[in-house]
Amino acid sequence: MLKAGELAAQALELAGRNAVPGISTWELDKIVNDYVVSHGGSSPCKGYGGFPGHNCFSINEQLIHGIPSKKVILREGDIISCDIVAELNGFMGDNTKTFRVGKVSEEADRLLRVTEEALYKGIEQAVAGNRIGDISNAVQTHVEANGYAVCRKYIGHGIGRDMHEDPEVPNFGRPGRGPRLCKGMTIAIEPMVNTNFPEVNILSDGWTVVTTDGSLSAHFENTVAITDGAPLILTQPEH
Ligand code: MF3
Ligand code: CO
Repeated sequence: MLKAGELAAQALELAGRNAVPGISTWELDKIVNDYVVSHGGSSPCKGYGGFPGHNCFSINEQLIHGIPSKKVILREGDIISCDIVAELNGFMGDNTKTFRVGKVSEEADRLLRVTEEALYKGIEQAVAGNRIGDISNAVQTHVEANGYAVCRKYIGHGIGRDMHEDPEVPNFGRPGRGPRLCKGMTIAIEPMVNTNFPEVNILSDGWTVVTTDGSLSAHFENTVAITDGAPLILTQPEH
């Protein structure tokens, strides 16, 4: 899991370095997949439920599941969520960051900062003896205290040999509720945060999830292991 997480994190960094004005999300997807494959891994999103790309690239009002496309060209001021899953030796690493393309608005900047903070508030709760609801509530509380909304329709998940395993890891909930966290569990915590409303729509391509009012959305994700002590973030470029 450490090795898969490391590869997924390095691939995500590479996506971030290449997320500059003028590049298409198709090119980004190719750069990332080529990197993963050249390091002995694979991109399990390709073909997952029929998904056409290797990874998801979601711009501005798009939360998740944006399909890589030659027609989608990044522009200065965009924000782009790069959701990268890598498989290595039968294990999965899953991570996401929303990157700033050049200089972004103050509004976008704040949304990204709060969403990333919410991810780390959730991770802090990922300790043995706590429950999933402690993670969920920490994320939700931070997001809502800052005036934003968490998406309810899509949630985090257990992860291991499969990309999606039990337990579910919602970004909303009550402390002390849900499955208990035990040493050795590996979960993907992934707040999806909308500027105004929790509701979402799916575009006619059947995949791209967008905010209902066209306002910005951000997404940060790490794969995390429950240990004897502090949470271990598996999706780090260096361990
Ligand atoms: N990486 C996503 C997650 O966080 C799943 C991608 S959906 C797929 O769970 F269709 F692209 F695989
Ligand atoms: Co995930």
